[in-house]
Amino acid sequence: MADASGVLSVSPVIPVVTIDDPQDAVPLARALVDGGVKIIELTLRTDSALTSLKLIAEEVPDILVGAGTILTPAQADAAVQAGAKFLVSPGITPALLTSMLSLDVPVLPGVATVGEVLAVLEAGLEAMKFFPAGPAGGPPYLAAIGAPIPHVQFCPTGGISLATAPDYLKLPNVACVGGSWLTPADAVAAKDWGRITSLAGGAAALTR
Ligand code: 3PG
Repeated sequence: MADASGVLSVSPVIPVVTIDDPQDAVPLARALVDGGVKIIELTLRTDSALTSLKLIAEEVPDILVGAGTILTPAQADAAVQAGAKFLVSPGITPALLTSMLSLDVPVLPGVATVGEVLAVLEAGLEAMKFFPAGPAGGPPYLAAIGAPIPHVQFCPTGGISLATAPDYLKLPNVACVGGSWLTPADAVAAKDWGRITSLAGGAAALTR
């Protein structure tokens, strides 16, 4: 159950979303679904994030909702209790990895070095988030990792746009990418759900 390979197959792009006002959660999630993106990584970066996560889990059954920016075991527990169907962390520690793996949902741990890739493999997972993808080396770095470790599938995230996503998606060890560009803060503030649906449509049309 813990491996997140199935999560990475849902969409070419996992939207990484931060919501301040829980009232925005359901319409935003529906806007993504309307554009063809049926997955959302909701970051635990706001006080109300768990409330938004619960609302999406309860009211938008068509979307697979996960929790991102998991930094501590306590956050992992709280996210699953709120309805998270998968967990994403920007990095790993032994305690965080053990704690996430004790929960009954797929886990997508963040890695940025070959040593971290090996540590996550030792824990039994072959799907990982590569973060922060752009600053850490981008597509050439992932291509180089694929030579000795071809069986790991990555979701690179961090500094990726609609324009640069294809450079990642063409790599054999990239299953999908993550990014916040589908839900710009100004579109959310303006409740411009049509713009988010349009951005989701562009992302859903990417090929991999
Ligand atoms: C993440 O947590 O995955 C990143 O903050 C998303 O990065 P981006 O905003 O550069 O897409």
